[in-house]
Amino acid sequence: MGKFLLFILCIGAAIVPKAAVAADQNDEGKELYRQKCVMCHGQEGNGEGPARAAFSPPPTDFTAPQFWQRKDIDQFIATTVKNGHGSMPAFELPPENIQAITDYMTHAFRQASQ
Ligand code: HEC
Repeated sequence: MGKFLLFILCIGAAIVPKAAVAADQNDEGKELYRQKCVMCHGQEGNGEGPARAAFSPPPTDFTAPQFWQRKDIDQFIATTVKNGHGSMPAFELPPENIQAITDYMTHAFRQASQ
């Protein structure tokens, strides 16, 4: 039993730091998305943010499969965030923040679109 417990503790120690890092990165993207994008694109990524009514065309729906069919989708999101698009404002964000947002969107909304 003592050996078994030790074994579990070792596995735990080996796994936890990695999981914590992954969660951090994802949390960063989620937090940035919440601060910068939710008001228009919505918590669920479906374009139903509180500011939706002010925009025509409306904020893009990230849960639509067509959105993710675009080639170079990461690059496309990064360019849109940097330059803005139509009535969407441009954002001054370092590339690693944009990457974190893109990763979060892929994780949270791309799956929901399939
Ligand atoms: C003030 C409202 C607003 C905010 C904030 C906002 N967007 Fe948008 N976004 C829009 C609107 C409106 C469109 C559709 C514009 C159009 O099609 O003319 C859009 C379109 C997009 C598109 C598709 C562009 C295209 O060419 O089809 C992407 C990608 C996008 N937004 C990502 C983001 C991300 C990521 C954030 C957060 C960093 C964000 N947006 C924040 C309003 C917003």
